[in-house]
Amino acid sequence: MAPKKKIIITIDGWSSCGKSTLARQLAKELNYVYIDSGAMYRAITLYFLRNHIDWTDTTEVEEALANIQLDFRFNEVSEQSEIFLNDENVEYVIRDLVIAEKVSEIAAIREVRTFAVKQQQEMGRKKGIVMDGRDIGTVVFPKAELKIFMTADNAVRVERRFRELFEKNPNITIEEVKNNLEMRDYIDSNREVSPLRQADDALVLDNSKVTMEEQLRIAQKWVKEKLQ
Ligand code: DC
Repeated sequence: MAPKKKIIITIDGWSSCGKSTLARQLAKELNYVYIDSGAMYRAITLYFLRNHIDWTDTTEVEEALANIQLDFRFNEVSEQSEIFLNDENVEYVIRDLVIAEKVSEIAAIREVRTFAVKQQQEMGRKKGIVMDGRDIGTVVFPKAELKIFMTADNAVRVERRFRELFEKNPNITIEEVKNNLEMRDYIDSNREVSPLRQADDALVLDNSKVTMEEQLRIAQKWVKEKLQ
């Protein structure tokens, strides 16, 4: 049975270091809501690309954001929450490399972040939530009870993301994936507005050499301590 006290769990870290896998496992186990904040930035990117928005123009960005409605709906079959952009399920299209190539640039725009962060904070109002991203423990929920910062060796991350993308697109090369990860890490950690950084009170989980089961056990121990 899920414990009565509900907390907020944030999981931040570099691209492709297994944040969403851990976040999903924890949410399922605790019967918490899982929110993939990166999916929001990806869906906004999809909207901007489809509608040829000039994202260097603040007015155009603001007008576009006013037409974007994002929500997460739980899919009973896949047992996962999926993101909807203006009532369209975009959970799968947003994983494309075309989106990955632009998302960091768009996620660095101040107006875009204000728009997404406001919704993320609203989702956490009742607690009982696991959210992963880059600024969740630092900006979105600075008072979260449990903050996890995930890392993994670069080579491990590239290999993981490559395998994921290769399933959908066998033409993809490891070089492309590596370049994309390096570029995103650079932009995400060097942008002016809420760059990726480890919160002072975050617990670090390096999963380069641990299995999914082991990483879950480590996080479960931390959760247990916070729920006491
Ligand atoms: O987690 P992801 O790879 O799906 O995230 C996609 C991009 O969105 C990532 O390159 C940086 C950005 N992002 C962000 O800036 N802040 C977040 N909280 C989550 C993601």
